[in-house]
Amino acid sequence: MNRHAAFVLLLAFGIVFQLSHCTEVNVTGKDGKLCLYANLMVNFTISYEITGNKSAIVEFELPNNTTTTGSECDAKSSTLKLNFGEGHSWSVNFTTNGAMYQADSIIFSYNLSDATVFPKSALNDTITVIAKPHITDVGMDTCYSCNSKEMIEGDSVNQTLWNVLIQAFVSNGTKSANITTCAADLPTTPTTTATTTSPAPPPTTTPTPTLPTPATGKYSVKPDENSTVCLLATFGLRIGVMQGKKYQEINLEPNATKSSGSCGVNSSELVLVSNSMTIMFTFANDTKKFRLQALNVTGSTSSGIAFSEGNTNLSLWEAAVGSSYMCNKEQNYTITSFLTLYTFNLQVQPFGVKKGIFSTAEECFLDSDLSFLVPIAVGVALSFLIILVLISYLIGRRKSRTGYQSV
Ligand SMILES: *[C@@H]1O[C@H](CO)[C@@H](O)[C@H](O)[C@H]1NC(C)=O
Ligand SMILES: *[C@@H]1O[C@H](CO)[C@@H](O)[C@H](O)[C@H]1NC(C)=O
Ligand SMILES: *[C@@H]1O[C@H](CO)[C@@H](O)[C@H](O)[C@H]1NC(C)=O
Ligand SMILES: *[C@@H]1O[C@H](CO)[C@@H](O)[C@H](O)[C@H]1NC(C)=O
Ligand SMILES: *[C@@H]1O[C@H](CO)[C@@H](O)[C@H](O)[C@H]1NC(C)=O
Ligand SMILES: *[C@@H]1O[C@H](CO)[C@@H](O)[C@H](O)[C@H]1NC(C)=O
Ligand SMILES: *[C@@H]1O[C@H](CO)[C@@H](O)[C@H](O)[C@H]1NC(C)=O
Ligand SMILES: *[C@@H]1O[C@H](CO)[C@@H](O)[C@H](O)[C@H]1NC(C)=O
Ligand SMILES: *[C@@H]1O[C@H](CO)[C@@H](O)[C@H](O)[C@H]1NC(C)=O
Ligand SMILES: *[C@@H]1O[C@H](CO)[C@@H](O)[C@H](O)[C@H]1NC(C)=O
Ligand SMILES: *[C@@H]1O[C@H](CO)[C@@H](O)[C@H](O)[C@H]1NC(C)=O
Ligand SMILES: *[C@@H]1O[C@H](CO)[C@@H](O)[C@H](O)[C@H]1NC(C)=O
Repeated sequence: MNRHAAFVLLLAFGIVFQLSHCTEVNVTGKDGKLCLYANLMVNFTISYEITGNKSAIVEFELPNNTTTTGSECDAKSSTLKLNFGEGHSWSVNFTTNGAMYQADSIIFSYNLSDATVFPKSALNDTITVIAKPHITDVGMDTCYSCNSKEMIEGDSVNQTLWNVLIQAFVSNGTKSANITTCAADLPTTPTTTATTTSPAPPPTTTPTPTLPTPATGKYSVKPDENSTVCLLATFGLRIGVMQGKKYQEINLEPNATKSSGSCGVNSSELVLVSNSMTIMFTFANDTKKFRLQALNVTGSTSSGIAFSEGNTNLSLWEAAVGSSYMCNKEQNYTITSFLTLYTFNLQVQPFGVKKGIFSTAEECFLDSDLSFLVPIAVGVALSFLIILVLISYLIGRRKSRTGYQSV
């Protein structure tokens, strides 16, 4: 009897303990099947105005008694919406391209009239803030898992997410056992995300970099909308960032990147803005030759830590003014001791672009080296083949002759 009571108490305590720490929700689709699963913790730190022209700061956790009204699932997008308290809500929008999914934005609304959360608030409005989480490249049919803290800073609201387990697109109503672990949870390795096939991500032997080759993007700059293109750039780009002891690589996604810039006589600029980073290229015209003179990259890694690295004393991608610089082979450049730039299928022309197309290209040493080697390699392979044919012919002849003699 006593033991029984103790067991019940333990069980109840266990449940309370669980609930008071994680917000777990199941969203069902129109067919009544599970279509989105989430189990996570969020802390909010909000600064708000109080009477007397002062500001106050409150900190609270996302409560576990939320409602999911407004959550929905689709084939291409899904929304997790958690409503709590007196008109507060926290929602995340997810989209997928079929193979991967990502969280596009977090929309957080809080009601300043709620005096229990915001005592003495000078305003009574409901404020909505939008933040960008770093939940990207999650394999379809996998759960995103991140136990590490991810802090998303805003002007008046900071959000900290941790112990996150989310599957934004559940198929067949069953949660996947496969996990995509966030980079921050992995042991210090140069990878962003890794997919494992067991429910618990085992931090196994040093995983090798798994980033795919970045897609090649085509970027251009026009002085104004009615002019022709004055700067052209084509490349696949990856950066490597060192933060403390942690090294991370990020690919630039061309179809989520906007280009802008300016063209001058002595200097031209290309600015690329993507979700994860902003890159500024400054090219110099040294009368006869041009070069990449400065590079500045700012952004934040998947663990949400911001970085800003630049070097204004570079001499890269040199070619004659009036031509373009080309390097198809993968290249790496050390920009600063914390930043490495990797390029793929590179071609740039920052000055003297005519009719919107690249002028004659000056190829990098490695490319010419390679093109020089290709005919030799083909020649060697061909002669090897000829020798092989010759040898087999000779052996064949010999065999048939000896065979003939023995009979
Ligand atoms: C509140 O403070 C700001 C500066 O901190 C000042 O410009 C503003 O006039 C003040 N407003 C009131 C109503 O006192
Ligand atoms: C989250 O907020 C609660 C309550 O304010 C606090 O006790 C806890 O330390 C916070 N946790 C983190 C990780 O900030
Ligand atoms: C905001 O809070 C006030 C006071 O608790 C409440 O009367 C009001 O309905 C809330 N607003 C919304 C949109 O729920
Ligand atoms: C970006 O391009 C990839 C292929 O390169 C494609 O699969 C993906 O759907 C595209 N994403 C967007 C947002 O257009
Ligand atoms: C909100 O505040 C304004 C003035 O600051 C007031 O006129 C209005 O009645 C208030 N609304 C509510 C719902 O309290
Ligand atoms: C958000 O975090 C930053 C950096 O830790 C801090 O400077 C800022 O005051 C915080 N803002 C709020 C509203 O807590
Ligand atoms: C999930 O795991 C199963 C079994 O380990 C495997 O067959 C399947 O391909 C995995 N799916 C994904 C999306 O990784
Ligand atoms: C571009 O051309 C259009 C129509 O020809 C004109 O209305 C517009 O002002 C021009 N824009 C610039 C920046 O010159
Ligand atoms: C490059 O600079 C030289 C000397 O400043 C100038 O004469 C030339 O026109 C410039 N070339 C371009 C394409 O702007
Ligand atoms: C470009 O550089 C040349 C030589 O350094 C200088 O004479 C010229 O004024 C510069 N032109 C511009 C537009 O800055
Ligand atoms: C990079 O650009 C940003 C924004 O313009 C600037 O704040 C930062 O100081 C620059 N960093 C370097 C190293 O030049
Ligand atoms: C950088 O390039 C050099 C050759 O140019 C190569 O030996 C080296 O392995 C590359 N480093 C990385 C990290 O790719």
